Amino acid sequence: MIGELFRARAAELQRGGRSRLYVELMREAADDADAGGIVAAIFAGDPATPASVPELRLLAALHHLVLSGGAPELARYFPSAGGDAPPQDAWAVARRTLAEHEAFIRERARRTVQTNEPGRCVALYGGLLWLSERHRLPIRLLEIGASAGLNLNPDRFAYVVDGAPLGDARSPLAFDEPWTGAPVTDPPAAAARLRIVERAGCDQAPIDPTSVDGRLELQSYIWPDEPARLARVELAASIAARHPVAIERRGAAAWLLRRLGAPRADVVTVIWQSVVDQYLEDAERAAIRSAFASAGGGPLAWLTLEPPAAASEDGSFELRCHERPEGNGSGESRLLARAGYHGPPVVWAVASPDA
Ligand SMILES: C[S@@+](CC[C@H](N)C(=O)[O-])C[C@H]1O[C@@H](n2cnc3c(N)ncnc32)[C@H](O)[C@@H]1O
Repeated sequence: MIGELFRARAAELQRGGRSRLYVELMREAADDADAGGIVAAIFAGDPATPASVPELRLLAALHHLVLSGGAPELARYFPSAGGDAPPQDAWAVARRTLAEHEAFIRERARRTVQTNEPGRCVALYGGLLWLSERHRLPIRLLEIGASAGLNLNPDRFAYVVDGAPLGDARSPLAFDEPWTGAPVTDPPAAAARLRIVERAGCDQAPIDPTSVDGRLELQSYIWPDEPARLARVELAASIAARHPVAIERRGAAAWLLRRLGAPRADVVTVIWQSVVDQYLEDAERAAIRSAFASAGGGPLAWLTLEPPAAASEDGSFELRCHERPEGNGSGESRLLARAGYHGPPVVWAVASPDA
């Protein structure tokens, strides 16, 4: 079972032309797990469900060890630690490292994956433009499963769309032409009108983006041979450090219930979640739905960026919007866009706020 998950992820990464190092490590780890080796020992007693992504948990634990200087021999294969040795030779050293640091790896590999990916803001930002134009009101942004809160600053990043700058044009973190289509008819005008007047988040295990440990943890979830993503997280963490938003240590449903208990009619309240659903227990998922359904006050929207109900062939995610009062009368969420799992490219399925 674990072997299959590692092998499937390696195949997916290879198809997408992503991390060669992780393709090699996951393939070898799959064979090791099947043969009852160190990978099987590390996951002994762990249900390792597909939704808990054991393959990402293990490699994040290993990456963390490398970044913290605990595995200098293995670091020679990790570009994130300055290494440039060929990935196909990495497994022998990785297996030895896993055995030497088994207790540390087992503990870290039990933690929920916390990839806090600022690239997902290319979808969120467009969703906020759509909502802000639809209601002609400022935004109150509430994020569940916010991790370090890097995505609570979507208006503090720069986006160049059809050659026009949106967001904060002076931001050090910029996305160049991340969209196909647009969610509003005049993106620069909508961007000029967008105002986020309140932001808050919760996570069951918040990461502090201002601390050295927190930044190391954020980096550990990024694939070591993807320098652009490593740089993106570093820039987003610096922006979060300059504009701190408290991320409360709390389960999503309880936090949301409390936040929505203070309704505001002068804003659109936007609940935002990305890549959180798979980690929720059924009871918590139901409690979140019920908090949304029973909230009083002004306009309320729930933007989700999650895998589609039936897995898409290209692995793309869907940006969906539930509205209260209901926007389209169907009781269903509306598909706003399809996006990559780390954000770009975003292909818009709506073209105007009246859609
Ligand atoms: C894969 S990360 C995604 C982080 C962020 N939303 C993003 O897309 O960049 C999932 C996050 O959900 C959090 N999480 C999982 N279950 C939770 C719960 N019941 N309540 C609050 N946060 C939760 C995890 O701690 C983790 O930070």
